[in-house]
Amino acid sequence: MARKPPELKDAYSLKSPEDSRRLYADWAGDYDERFAALEDYQLHVHTARAFVGAGGQGPVLDVGAGTGLCGAVLAGLGVGPIDATDISAEMLTEALKKDVYRDAFEADLTEGIPAPRDSYSGIVSSGTFTHGHVGPEGIEALLRVARPGAQFAVSINAAHYESAGFAAAFKALGDRIGGLSLTEVPIYGDLAVGPNRDDTALIALFEKS
Ligand SMILES: C[S@@+](CC[C@H](N)C(=O)[O-])C[C@H]1O[C@@H](n2cnc3c(N)ncnc32)[C@H](O)[C@@H]1O
Repeated sequence: MARKPPELKDAYSLKSPEDSRRLYADWAGDYDERFAALEDYQLHVHTARAFVGAGGQGPVLDVGAGTGLCGAVLAGLGVGPIDATDISAEMLTEALKKDVYRDAFEADLTEGIPAPRDSYSGIVSSGTFTHGHVGPEGIEALLRVARPGAQFAVSINAAHYESAGFAAAFKALGDRIGGLSLTEVPIYGDLAVGPNRDDTALIALFEKS
């Protein structure tokens, strides 16, 4: 039987990290062509530009790096070195083909990031804090590997921001973070045709205190 390629609705209805591993193992080989290009995906561009606009610098960790779309934009903007982490080994294999990462390692963000404390001056994440993926519980692991003063640019699906309780989570961080700003951006461009074409995300910019 012919393979039915994954779609956004499959990704949004994931229930566990194991579901993510399975879906993205299947999606990795044609994610760039069948999802990003066909849906005119733009979130990685907004996230990378926001990071650079806020003065972000390397070394950077790209969290939920997937096939490396955000890292590729960052590298094009002159940022480096960039490491990639993701729960899916298959997605990271695709990311490494773009030849923009210094290193790549597999990790379930909800269980922590296997890198030394205070490793990074910047953290970016595009498309991973969304329905069926990772909620605010993932932020603690990012803070651990970030140096004091590190710049964060983390995209959070706007509807997920409300339903998953990100506002309360940021408030609870108190003075462990500073300069929090939220900017709403379209996830897809004008050429998008799918049912989610008008979805938006909030780019959370903040620093580790
Ligand atoms: C929509 S893709 C975004 C990929 C890339 N950042 C982009 O903008 O194209 C979401 C990514 O999050 C990863 N992911 C999902 N759950 C995760 C978890 N618990 N820990 C780490 N990565 C996760 C998936 O494997 C996938 O690569």
